[in-house]
Amino acid sequence: VSAATPAPLHVAIIMDGNGRWAHRRGLARSAGHRAGAGAVERTVEAAPSQGIGTLTLYAFSADNWKRPADEVSTLMGLLRRYLRRERRRCVENGVRLSVIGRRDRLDAEIVRQIERAEAETASGSRLTVRIAIDYSAREAIAAAAHSASGLPALSTADFSALLNRAIHSSPPAPDVDLLIRTSGEKRLSDFLLWECAYAELVFTDTLWPDFGADELARAIAEFQKRHRRFGMVSATA
Ligand code: IPE
Ligand code: IPE
Ligand code: MG
Repeated sequence: VSAATPAPLHVAIIMDGNGRWAHRRGLARSAGHRAGAGAVERTVEAAPSQGIGTLTLYAFSADNWKRPADEVSTLMGLLRRYLRRERRRCVENGVRLSVIGRRDRLDAEIVRQIERAEAETASGSRLTVRIAIDYSAREAIAAAAHSASGLPALSTADFSALLNRAIHSSPPAPDVDLLIRTSGEKRLSDFLLWECAYAELVFTDTLWPDFGADELARAIAEFQKRHRRFGMVSATA
């Protein structure tokens, strides 16, 4: 890959702040989650023009099952609807959808929507959107390690391949280049711990429902000012 055509970026986003967005407006948390779905659409639409090849969105963590049952069911309903309604637009726009995480705790209807969305968008080559649902990085690493037991010593690249398989990532994704978290929180909350080994981190106070093309462009501009060294000595040091 030459300097003139940099590799497409893998951008991962911890979409946080839906609840606070709603609270500030005197609305129920569910209204924040619905508004957050609009931000997902804007961000997916803007991603290809920002040089992004893979966009991984944290939609529901394994720990989010601990939220009140009505909030969990609102979130699952929105995810089901997103997969059902967006898949045609994804096909039209060359977007490949993939859902990462575990599937055995999801209800049968959402699993069916995941499988349909993945099958129907599989030829999309402009952008891969990975949606993390019932995702825990530590569980994923433990599952990949389990699948590696009995195998000869693995390189980190081989382990990455097992990890992608453990989370059903089709296609397998490269390491994360840029991790964005909205809402002012500065933590990883069990997201892509292995894949973010050399990710640049960008934190913004913007609440997720207010995120969109401009905010994404700002984060990419910040990323482009960083000097990634991967442990080496920079030529400009
Ligand atoms: C992010 O918004 C959505 C999910 C975690 C599912 P939150 O619901 O965490 O919003 P805050 O953090 O309470 O504002
Ligand atoms: C992380 O946000 C999970 C998602 C964005 C889906 P949380 O709001 O659940 O994380 P904590 O609890 O603040 O760490
Ligand atoms: Mg939160």
